[in-house]
Amino acid sequence: MAVDLLLGLQWGDEGKGKIVDVLTSKYDIIARFQGGPNAGHTLVFNNKKHVLHTIPSGIFHENTKNLVGNGVVIDPVIFKKELNNLASQGVNYKASLLISRKAHLILPTHRLLDAASETAKGKAKIGSTLKGIGPTYMDKTGRNGIRVGDIELADWKEKYRALANKHEAMIAFYDVNIQYNLKELETEFFAAIETLKELSFIDSEDYIFQAQKNKKAILAEGAQGSLLDIDFGTYPFVTSSNTTAAGACTGLGIAPNKIGNVFGIFKAYTTRVGSGPFPTELFDEVGETMGRVGHEFGATTGRRRRCGWLDLVALKYACQVNGVTQLMMMKGDVLSGFKSLKVCTAYKYKGDTVTHLPFNIEAHNVTPIYTELKGWKEDLTKMENENQLPKELHEYITFLENELEIPIKIVSVGPDRKQTIFR
Ligand code: GDP
Ligand code: IMO
Ligand code: MG
Repeated sequence: MAVDLLLGLQWGDEGKGKIVDVLTSKYDIIARFQGGPNAGHTLVFNNKKHVLHTIPSGIFHENTKNLVGNGVVIDPVIFKKELNNLASQGVNYKASLLISRKAHLILPTHRLLDAASETAKGKAKIGSTLKGIGPTYMDKTGRNGIRVGDIELADWKEKYRALANKHEAMIAFYDVNIQYNLKELETEFFAAIETLKELSFIDSEDYIFQAQKNKKAILAEGAQGSLLDIDFGTYPFVTSSNTTAAGACTGLGIAPNKIGNVFGIFKAYTTRVGSGPFPTELFDEVGETMGRVGHEFGATTGRRRRCGWLDLVALKYACQVNGVTQLMMMKGDVLSGFKSLKVCTAYKYKGDTVTHLPFNIEAHNVTPIYTELKGWKEDLTKMENENQLPKELHEYITFLENELEIPIKIVSVGPDRKQTIFR
């Protein structure tokens, strides 16, 4: 059976966790394929909020397997905290959580290197979550990384020591003031490794292959968003993995011709956390209202998210790169009460009007061109079906569908599992 993908189309935090949770009952396996604890995926049900970082968002469903794929980077310390949280909720994760032997480990020194690199960059910093993501993927592509499968081998601690020593020399090279006690960090790290070892390590590409052969329904859960993709995002203000559809192939071992639906998820407006260009960003009361009503604070770092209007130039680009087959629009409820809504449909770029995403979208190069649509007043959060949605929201949706030429199949009207309208 083909594997479905669910991907964020903006700069992350579109609401992937919520929708994966909503869709999980239709799937046998939920699999993460890239990123790591830089992600923060929020699920809300039974009046309780849960935030997952590395663990797939299907974990609260008893009969679903949850796979952490080879493309993911795992920090055992953060992973252990996530497991403890799950245990305190009575989730029997040992039966349902599987880890790829080929997933790379984030070492304590990777986190320190992330901090050193960001500090050294000063004003030009990426705004990283400081979870060690960049340095870990650098060691992966540099062929120096340590993988989950390595910790089953006798000599892995020697490999660890050599790599940690090298990292310490690199931290010193940055010549920035990073205070740390590696002994303490290592005690915590090695204790967390023991917890990790209690889980099932598997050869996940074979597991996924057999599952497809046995007609199991699989959903790959993206982390971050397309505009943070290492190749297609707003480089260098991106993360260090392929967050787009191709990342699911390399991050799980799924053949390209085995991809089924590509669910593209976006907010009805735009947010971004961290540095980097954001053409439709608002610095006024409207942006402030979006942030306040939408509770736009990072699920991993608590940082305030920058807010702005929906950018269809960027969204179209993301739909193209991913081959999106169905769209899901989140947080429409946050826009209730605005008299009018703006949607960016083109950029003024070096004197021309362009509708494709140019190489450089820094503010001095790009001015958004907006179409204005009517807003709605109604509170959407208690609405349960499409017919209840206000006329102006129908118009907003139709406008987007016409521009993007892809149907919007889900309209989310609140953080709770139940606040989901299927079209
Ligand atoms: P993810 O990283 O894509 O999983 O998204 P995050 O969890 O980081 O951020 C999405 C935030 O919006 C979370 O706080 C969700 O609980 C919340 N959320 C998701 N969908 C909706 C929605 O339709 N309306 C509102 N108001 N909040 C939502
Ligand atoms: P989810 O899965 C939003 C951003 C960081 C920073 C840049 C690089 O919850 O949507 P990194 O830690 O990867 O080196 O940071 O990417 N970033 C995210 N922004 N949501 C995320 O994940 C993000 N993961 C990383 O803020 O700008
Ligand atoms: Mg998030």
